[in-house]
Amino acid sequence: MSDSNQHKPWQGRFSEATDAFVEQFTASIGFDQRLYAQDIRGSIAHARMLAHTGILTTHESESIIEGLQQLQRDIEDDKIDWSVSLEDIHMNIESLLTGRIGEAGKKLHTGRSRNDQVATDIRLYLRDQIDNISAQLKRLMQGLLDLAELEACTIMPGFTHLQVAQPITFGHHMMAWFEMLQRDYGRLADCRKRMNQMPLGAAALAGTSYPIDRQFSADALGFDKPCENSLDAVSDRDFAIEFSSAAALIMTHLSRFAEELVLWTSAQFDFIELPDRFCTGSSIMPQKKNPDVPELVRGKSGRVYGNLFSLLTLMKGQALAYNKDNQEDKEPLFDNVDTVHDSLMAFADMVPAIRTRPDNMRAAALQGFATATDLADYLVRKGLPFRDAHEVVGRAVKLGVDSGRDLSEMHLSELQSFHSSIEQDVFDVLTLEGSVNARNHIGGTAPEQVRAAVTRARQNLS
Ligand code: ARG
Repeated sequence: MSDSNQHKPWQGRFSEATDAFVEQFTASIGFDQRLYAQDIRGSIAHARMLAHTGILTTHESESIIEGLQQLQRDIEDDKIDWSVSLEDIHMNIESLLTGRIGEAGKKLHTGRSRNDQVATDIRLYLRDQIDNISAQLKRLMQGLLDLAELEACTIMPGFTHLQVAQPITFGHHMMAWFEMLQRDYGRLADCRKRMNQMPLGAAALAGTSYPIDRQFSADALGFDKPCENSLDAVSDRDFAIEFSSAAALIMTHLSRFAEELVLWTSAQFDFIELPDRFCTGSSIMPQKKNPDVPELVRGKSGRVYGNLFSLLTLMKGQALAYNKDNQEDKEPLFDNVDTVHDSLMAFADMVPAIRTRPDNMRAAALQGFATATDLADYLVRKGLPFRDAHEVVGRAVKLGVDSGRDLSEMHLSELQSFHSSIEQDVFDVLTLEGSVNARNHIGGTAPEQVRAAVTRARQNLS
């Protein structure tokens, strides 16, 4: 990056050079260079539109387009030195272009402003990034479906208050994550759809006096249509906030998922194993294998929430139309794009490699009187009101706690001492399999339902 004083396109009305610190302070090239491809794409569409409407000659337009294409190759070959005194990616590219092709380069900015240019660039950028992020999200969702199918019959304890509650299947648990992520997928698609309108043509704030054809540029750039109102088009960044809200929810979901992976890989649970390649060791404790990837994703949720808050705060209270505040949209947005993309990628890579420990999960489910509700339901089927059944089972559980046994380990005569209607068939409902198989309705934990849910989900996802 160079800071040699270059001629600024807006220098005309100024009588002294910009203060050196102010130049650094106001520049965005350090981070908005990330938008170079979108800026060039937008400029090429604009140049085509200018020729199409006769505002520029075909020759001028072609020379601009060739110059921009060559410049893009040079940027990608790392041959370009960005200039801080040219402030941002838009003025850097325009100045480089003019340096290469001369007079025609100076005509590219006809009928537009950096205000509609930057608003267009960010939308083009975010649109691509939403597609990349959605692809990672889909990969993770597919991994969850595969795991859910594979482990549809694997029994584990289900928890409330992190206390064993009722037996569930591991596949059912995976499908809960799938459902959350499926809603996230839909939120990204909604955001993309609302965002896909083109600011170009709004110019600085009021539109332009040239006979532009905004539909032509919108079609060239794959936007659904031009933005309806020029003031709104250049000034609002609600799409970045909407994306960041969706990103924050994705991170919320991943952090909950991460928390369970951390718990389940601990020696105290030992429900699953993560392969070594997703873990790291300790520099002092040789026995350690830490679940770093889930922990880091859980931690990274913090910066995504913070970035969302930065964006909301920078937008609030801004009078129409463009204000320089909006230059502050980029770093939080870029960071959210990177963080959510990489977190999803890490999980999408890791989930297919999860190995379960069914014996440990089963043992844990047997420890917490997980079938107590099933015994109550059994008594209700024998004619007891549910509240009385609840009371009877509570007494049976107390005996279990005192004698260190599960309900299924008690003698029939012991169980009958709590209620005479209990018969030999009670043991069918006290087994873990009996309990999960009984919850056989849409959304229930029975293996049959898990498989059906996976099938439906696969159809929706394709
Ligand atoms: N770098 C600026 C931004 O990111 C571009 C728009 C500048 N417009 C202006 N009138 N100063 O917002």
